[in-house]
Amino acid sequence: MTPRPETQPRQLNLNAFIYPSGHHEAAWRHPDSRPDRIYDVSYYQEIGRTAEAAKFDAVFFADGPALRQNVKHFAAPGLEPITLLTAIATATTHLGLIATASTTYYEPYNLARLFSSLDHISGGRAGWNIVTTGTDVAAANFGLDEHPAHTDRYARAREFVDAVVALWDSWEDDAILLDRAAGIYADPDKIHEINHAGEHLRVRGPFNSARTPQGYPVLVQAGASNEGRGFAGRYAEAIFTAHQRLTDAQAFYADIKRRAAGFGRNPDHVKILPGISPFIGDTEKEAKALEQEFNELTVPEYGLTQVEKMFGFSLRHLDLDEPIPLELFADAGDVTDNERSRVQVIAGIVQREKPTVHGLLHRLAGARGHRVFTGTPEQVADTIEEWFTHGAADGFNVMPPLYPGGLEKFASTVVPILQDRGLFRTEYTGTTLRDHFGLPRPESQFASTATISEPQLSAAAR
Ligand SMILES: Cc1cc2nc3c(=O)[nH]c(=O)nc-3n(C[C@H](O)[C@H](O)[C@H](O)COP(=O)(O)O)c2cc1C
Repeated sequence: MTPRPETQPRQLNLNAFIYPSGHHEAAWRHPDSRPDRIYDVSYYQEIGRTAEAAKFDAVFFADGPALRQNVKHFAAPGLEPITLLTAIATATTHLGLIATASTTYYEPYNLARLFSSLDHISGGRAGWNIVTTGTDVAAANFGLDEHPAHTDRYARAREFVDAVVALWDSWEDDAILLDRAAGIYADPDKIHEINHAGEHLRVRGPFNSARTPQGYPVLVQAGASNEGRGFAGRYAEAIFTAHQRLTDAQAFYADIKRRAAGFGRNPDHVKILPGISPFIGDTEKEAKALEQEFNELTVPEYGLTQVEKMFGFSLRHLDLDEPIPLELFADAGDVTDNERSRVQVIAGIVQREKPTVHGLLHRLAGARGHRVFTGTPEQVADTIEEWFTHGAADGFNVMPPLYPGGLEKFASTVVPILQDRGLFRTEYTGTTLRDHFGLPRPESQFASTATISEPQLSAAAR
């Protein structure tokens, strides 16, 4: 009898989603935080080393091309993330490096160059969190009178990714001949124009740089509206998402995997990572006290402005201790064009929990609608395991509410429990982000022997 091949047990993917002082909006006021180091590159290199020592798959930095938060009360992140990750790349060897970049406010050729360079410099560890930018304040920074509509943003995003992937593919893997004797550096027959001519974008190519170690960076996505899910099913290899409840996360998970299969893709090659922002204490009481300590540092004015920006209406006419009239949030997800899915998550919190104004502001202070979990390391590990084994997650976006401290605490207390349970790696088994996520290296769509790889197949299926 032939021995059964040893199958690798399914393991979690853990991504460290970093806000420089922590995700809690008031973390920068806490005496342990270091907002004075927001522009200090060594600060982020330390974060990278901490995440790598704990064997995280990747570190992730969000971004937007506008001053979005009310900077009067919030230590706004300051460094452009692709530049920042390049610096972290030089201080680490295995950690994946994921940055947000907007398809609404970049041009494909420029952006393709930035991520290609990050993938080369890091030896194959780059990932691109593809967003359409949910906030309208960016438009005026780019000469536009209005933020493009939701549907138009996603239509451009599809073309954008097609063009960028084609640029990355435009040099076949064996295009560089490096024949010094004959004086031939590259084979022009293996370097292709892409001739993308769509409704929103025209890009001729070819690209001006060779194919990268991963073939191309991992495509990550973070929008969960109907358009966002369609986009994710077609292109995304990893998905960041925000859910409060197991049942909602399960429904999202099943929907995305189904959509991916509908595009002829292998659903296992789409990793779904909900956010969790854990306040960890040695006892439950200590964890709750920690959360309370941070909530007491919030400035209501900041939260009220955030709600106004997101929902387009105000809560200022209400007392902070007054319950929020439910009808205010009844149609919230339908009336706003910005960040639709997050607006729905928050409207759901209001409908279920019926908070006072202050209660809602505290609820959002932790992680802007992401799931805040308060408990002991065992309890954090339990909820992670429950979601992972009940069809709700392939891993998590771990969002430390405070930094320094929050990432280290998770790494030293929760990670060992997950490792003991066989749910998380104790060593890296590969060197690229694709290796960590268990994703194949895509073949160039221009390779003469190419079988069509997943994102191009999706494009072809359009
Ligand atoms: C974990 C996570 C990270 C995100 N990071 C960014 C970001 O860096 N920049 C941005 O403009 N939007 C970011 N978003 C927002 C999404 O791109 C998107 O606008 C939002 O989820 C609403 O998507 P929808 O319009 O498809 O509903 C993020 C969302 C999630 C869940």
